[in-house]
Amino acid sequence: MKKLIVLFMVFVLLLSMAACGGGGEGTDTSADSSDEAVMIGVSMPTQSLQRWNQDGANMKAKLEEAGYKVDLQYAGDNDIPTQVSQLENMITEGCKVLVIAAIDGSSLTEVLKQAKEQDIPVIAYDRLIMNSDAVSYYATFDNFLVGVMQGQYIEEALDLKNAEGPFNIELFTGDPADNNAAFFFGGAMSILKPYIDSGVLVVPSGQTTQAQVSTADWKTEVAQARMENLITSNGYSPKGTKLDAVCCSNDSTAMGAVNALVSVGYTNENIPIITGQDCDKPNVKSMVAGLQSMSVFKDTRTLAGKVVGMVDAIVKGGEPEINDTETYDNGTGVIPSYLCSPVICTIDNYEELLIDSGYYTEADIQ
Ligand code: BGC
Repeated sequence: MKKLIVLFMVFVLLLSMAACGGGGEGTDTSADSSDEAVMIGVSMPTQSLQRWNQDGANMKAKLEEAGYKVDLQYAGDNDIPTQVSQLENMITEGCKVLVIAAIDGSSLTEVLKQAKEQDIPVIAYDRLIMNSDAVSYYATFDNFLVGVMQGQYIEEALDLKNAEGPFNIELFTGDPADNNAAFFFGGAMSILKPYIDSGVLVVPSGQTTQAQVSTADWKTEVAQARMENLITSNGYSPKGTKLDAVCCSNDSTAMGAVNALVSVGYTNENIPIITGQDCDKPNVKSMVAGLQSMSVFKDTRTLAGKVVGMVDAIVKGGEPEINDTETYDNGTGVIPSYLCSPVICTIDNYEELLIDSGYYTEADIQ
């Protein structure tokens, strides 16, 4: 009888192990193991610039591939109240992690208090969110290095280490509320300022501070209008005052500078050196046409992949991968960050970087 009871108990034990998935590992940690997949909120600033559409689409696709439900929202065209109310909705509908590319780094403090109260981790995407202790992680590119690459491109193209100059240059950076702008501008100026100080580079407008050269909302029209003013007030033209370089922090501002210069007669034969960032399609076309000189390629697929890895680690109770614990202080302390690597893109390597890698098709940039 005893034997029978023992056999019966072994049988019951085996049955219950089988019901738990065999190996006794009762907790399946895959994101969609429950009926309700875990929902992730992704908040992007605008649909009017190509890069954010790509970022949003990449994030959604990769998160869904990993088994998550995604609430992807674009805040109109850089509309701060829209971004705030979209985040409130994400919190209310039960998103478990928020991934946010902020329009204005300092405008989310209040709404993120709600996230913190409900233990919803926040990942700052590409742009750091300032003055909020709700931010758990930050994933971006090495933004200072982006600016350094732009400065070094100009340094090499004008042979500043050897030439006496003076060369004329004008500077453009981005929206003052975007924390990245200070890094891009700071990186470029770390290379260019010594030459400005020694007189090898001259800024005829005299506009050399970040505040003086910023571009509201990073808008092409705003940069274009400022370049038009600079042309008028300094007499730049192919036959007038020589303009050797325009250091622009990104492609949307570079496009403004190119448009203004082309409209007063500059061509690929005589246009100044113009820098950019993002490798937006119209800018790659401009590079192929010999107008914009370079861009900095930031592969948004890599950034999205890293952020999805962070989300997954957070949801599963692991440690997200980070590689920088020093650079990005948001006013509440340093935010653990992952910095992806930017790459210089010119007419010489764009095919390999952008087409061979599958980022664009040939047709995209024709
Ligand atoms: C991004 C740039 C982009 C700019 C304008 C910055 O925060 O890092 O890639 O060009 O915003 O959207």
